[in-house]
Amino acid sequence: MQDNHGRNINYLRLSITDRCNLRCRYCMPADGVVQKSCGEILRYEQFLQIVEAAVKLGIRKVRVTGGEPLVRKGVIDFLSRLSNIPGIKEVALTTNGLLLTEKAQALMDAGVKRLNVSIDSLQPETYAQITRGGSLEQVLAGLDAAEAAGLKLKLNMVVMNGINDQEVVPFAALSLDKPWSVRFIEYMPTIREKQWQNQLVSGADILCELQRHYSLKSISSGRYCGPAKPYRIAGAKGTVGIITPMSEHFCGSCNRIRVTSTGQAKSCLLAGGSLDLKPYLQQSAAELLKALQQVVGDKPAQHRYRLELEKDVPFSMSSIGG
Ligand code: GTP
Ligand code: 5AD
Ligand code: SF4
Repeated sequence: MQDNHGRNINYLRLSITDRCNLRCRYCMPADGVVQKSCGEILRYEQFLQIVEAAVKLGIRKVRVTGGEPLVRKGVIDFLSRLSNIPGIKEVALTTNGLLLTEKAQALMDAGVKRLNVSIDSLQPETYAQITRGGSLEQVLAGLDAAEAAGLKLKLNMVVMNGINDQEVVPFAALSLDKPWSVRFIEYMPTIREKQWQNQLVSGADILCELQRHYSLKSISSGRYCGPAKPYRIAGAKGTVGIITPMSEHFCGSCNRIRVTSTGQAKSCLLAGGSLDLKPYLQQSAAELLKALQQVVGDKPAQHRYRLELEKDVPFSMSSIGG
């Protein structure tokens, strides 16, 4: 479906849980977030009902997120049912990678061909500091398992000034020998932790750092393409990408809508407001479709995040799924 700004909306992100086995500093406040009660979280059947309606709207790709989606019980069976919905061409997942050693093959078998894995440092201590206790070794083992299972991988690194910005070049080097897409993401200060508010490293600075070390070629992005601006280092098997939600937003080419774990449909990650789909799940398929059409119809031309920061509307990424 085309929205009111001429964008083709074909991509749905489902956050199936707000729970996570990590507490990354840029995602959750130090004292954690109030978790939704089980009763508030949509059942898998309800998510499938939403996707079936969304297909009629033109949705072709679904990305499952969290929290950490792999901690939710029954997720593999859910993904398999999702992949089998007629009209869905691609099911992808964003994960912190901790559970991949045990789940990679099952994901592949369930029809998930692509994984985005958050990994913000290649130094065990820095990784543990950012994630508040996560094991880098476990994630690296997970990446190996994912690769062995044949999953296509993108790596997400949120670049933070003075924390991991020294690691941009080593991260990019991963793309030399692996067919991975290594993405550098500008920090979105969704959580108002004072020290973390100033840690934005701009995409321009990231690109500059990369160009000091490598010869980069801009390349075209793939189907259902996301927000990353992709490049290839000369001779590399994989690619690098830069995601710039803060310094140079990509709203003009945004193709997505989202549904949170409690059934709130959001037309934009960073604009406030959402439509509660729960009441529509008890009505006819036509009513649910109308509700989704309304969400697409309400999609703003662009986010006004800098302005919104002035207001007191912080949110935790784990509740929306990025
Ligand atoms: P694919 O293109 O499907 O690979 O997805 P993606 O790269 O958008 O997904 P991923 O979950 O890996 O998110 C990467 C980063 O992009 C995260 O920091 C997200 O918060 C951010 N992001 C994803 N979609 C949007 C969006 O619509 N707006 C903004 N501002 N940021 C987004
Ligand atoms: N800024 C940028 N990216 C973020 N993510 C989570 N919180 C933030 C933030 N504040 C990323 C995670 C994950 C993806 C879903 O969103 O690293 O890869
Ligand atoms: Fe969990 Fe992802 Fe948030 Fe880290 S960024 S706490 S892995 S949901």
